[in-house]
Amino acid sequence: MLQTRVNSGLDGIIVADTVMSEVDGEEGRLVVRGHALPELVATRGFEGVAALLWTDYATGGGDEAAVTKGLAKARVRAFKDVPKLLAATEGLTPVEALRVGLGMLPDSDPLPHHFLVCGALPVFLAAVLNRAKGLSPLAPDLALTTAQDLLRMIRGQRAGEVFEKGLDTYLATVADHGFNASTFTGRVVASTQAGLISSVLAALCALKGPLHGGAPGPVLDMLDEIGDSARAEAWFDDAFGKGTTLMGFGHRIYKVRDPRADVLKAAVATLPATAGRLAFASEVEQGAIAALRRHKPGRRLDTNVEYYTALLLEALEIPREAFTALFAVGRAAGWCAHVFEQEKGGRIIRPQSNYVGPRPA
Ligand code: ACO
Repeated sequence: MLQTRVNSGLDGIIVADTVMSEVDGEEGRLVVRGHALPELVATRGFEGVAALLWTDYATGGGDEAAVTKGLAKARVRAFKDVPKLLAATEGLTPVEALRVGLGMLPDSDPLPHHFLVCGALPVFLAAVLNRAKGLSPLAPDLALTTAQDLLRMIRGQRAGEVFEKGLDTYLATVADHGFNASTFTGRVVASTQAGLISSVLAALCALKGPLHGGAPGPVLDMLDEIGDSARAEAWFDDAFGKGTTLMGFGHRIYKVRDPRADVLKAAVATLPATAGRLAFASEVEQGAIAALRRHKPGRRLDTNVEYYTALLLEALEIPREAFTALFAVGRAAGWCAHVFEQEKGGRIIRPQSNYVGPRPA
């Protein structure tokens, strides 16, 4: 007998066991392979988190030095594809260019594919950002970490420890987050045995939407429009009157504040000349939460990761059109981990729909 109760957003549906991460939406807690987020980012950078995620599943798993080396080698390999990438992506946004770039990687490439995709994304991103400034792409440096090298390739020189640490914290913070829309998409593709590159490409396409990884650019647009925290209340009332969704707020799982928001807010505070901007953003955030309480009573909506992502990436001088692409650089580590887990134990993911169209007479 076909079950006909439709759950269009799959709320609360559990489709797999995972050892990767746990999102506790009531407590506002994220655990990645046994480590609570604040401890995770205090003790590990991006490569360390990737090594942790890949433990027991892939080359370099558990070994931060091996991951750092593997990713650096993969960046050098990916740099060879940059002329092809640039020729194929004229006029595209950074995330659209990454979509093309991942699509160009062959399944036959001899490098371990998790290294290949996680090495290619920062190289491709830096190349398209340099093109936008009229600059030639800068070759990767084998001696650096992903965060150090990405900032260097974008800026033309090393950014300084405080900036490199800021980006590293961001990449580590967003590396994995349960069965979010992009991770689930990647796992669906992995479940068909299409391979890691195709799975990560599919995940990137899901991340691109404004309801998922496309939110932080619009957060800055909102802050720009508000301009002065004294105008925030009127701005929010007007926005709710028009049915606007507030970017950087609300979450399917978190019913309280997203714990990543505090980690990223603290990271912004370590960067130079951010005190004024941070104070303004904090006031606007309080105004947004008060407006959500007024206009959406009983809905339990709070700040999500994207609000302070926007502030952090702005302070790192990343152009806002590149925010979603940069999210992909960090999240790719988690996507790969989930592909491995799916390939190891999962069955093909194949739900059912409830047919409501006409039937033959
Ligand atoms: N602003 C205003 N109202 C909101 C918001 C928001 N940011 N988020 C949810 N609501 C309201 C909805 O309008 C709805 O109200 P209603 O019942 O009166 O119609 C109610 O809260 C429930 O919202 P849903 O959209 O059903 O919640 P869902 O779990 O499906 O969506 C989502 C979650 C997509 C994140 C949503 O909160 C949203 O659009 N937020 C803004 C975009 C954003 O910041 N995305 C990044 C999320 S974090 C990440 O993906 C990395």
